[in-house]
Amino acid sequence: MNQIQQIREEAIQAIESSQSLEEIKKVHVDFFAKKGKITSLMSQMRNLSPEERPVFGQQVNELKNELQQAYDAKLEVLNQAAMDQKLASEKIDLTLPGIDFSFGHVHPLMIVQREIEQIFMEMGYDVLEGDEVELDLYNFERANIPKDHPARDMQDTFYITDELLLRTHTTAIQMRALEANNGEIPIRVICPGKVYRKDDDDATHSHQFNQIEGLVVGHGVTLSDLKGTLELLAKRMFGQNRHIRFRPSYFQFTEPSVEVDVSCHMCDGEGCSVCKDTGYIEILGAGMVHPAVLEMAGFEDKTITGFAFGVGLERVAMLKYGIEDIRSFYTNDARFLKQFERFE
Ligand code: DAH
Repeated sequence: MNQIQQIREEAIQAIESSQSLEEIKKVHVDFFAKKGKITSLMSQMRNLSPEERPVFGQQVNELKNELQQAYDAKLEVLNQAAMDQKLASEKIDLTLPGIDFSFGHVHPLMIVQREIEQIFMEMGYDVLEGDEVELDLYNFERANIPKDHPARDMQDTFYITDELLLRTHTTAIQMRALEANNGEIPIRVICPGKVYRKDDDDATHSHQFNQIEGLVVGHGVTLSDLKGTLELLAKRMFGQNRHIRFRPSYFQFTEPSVEVDVSCHMCDGEGCSVCKDTGYIEILGAGMVHPAVLEMAGFEDKTITGFAFGVGLERVAMLKYGIEDIRSFYTNDARFLKQFERFE
């Protein structure tokens, strides 16, 4: 009986002083487990007389129940404390403002490119791209610019081999489109892409820039179709009050060829520094596809005609947004680029 009392005190003391789940688990091992003190009390029963046994057994059972209750209660308290601590340490404060980060946005040149593509797609054109590394064949020869022709000097070219070069204009894509159609009409394509020229970079020149080529081929396509199309482009890009004018020009791959001017969007044609007091701004080259070009691409039917044009994207973007230095497009100054967030 003394022993029972002693174990009771020991166990109560151990349970009460337990401060953590580890400590209370140790109490379980020391008292309740197979080799624990309560279990060993039970095994002493066989040393007692048959009269003593029931009394002793009952006492041990009572002790066991009492301690089990104390143990369970303490375990619950400690479990709760552990959970509270875990929750406190993992607490997420949803009212805190999130970490701010900035989204990227579309580059100004891409804004202009997409805008032009959109205008032409609405009129049923397809968008067609080509390779920046191009064959001399498509960049020059099919464009009616044979080897050794002086017109090649107009575009100072980066050659890779005698036959391979960095395309100098998107007209190379036009030549591929013509060949791919192999005499079939209609063709209505718009071809954006990077082009390269051996120019010294300055505020208005860049050795790499972007063009968009337009090409329409069909029966009886005329110069007035070209004019109507480009007038629409000018109005959509620079405002409904714009009109255009054609000036005679020369390109090997078009006949006749024209230089296209848009009435100045800054002064409405009155004359200002942007249009150099002329009231007009030159924006692109165009013309009727040269019969020799159509023939080389496999168009035999002489009633099939076409118009083409080539626009410099940088030039359009510079005019539209009042950008003064072409290099701004390529130098990745975030302060410059950020201004175009609102135009997307
Ligand atoms: N390829 C010419 C250039 O880069 C631009 C051009 C002019 C394209 C007239 C055309 C065109 O399609 O018809 O200067």
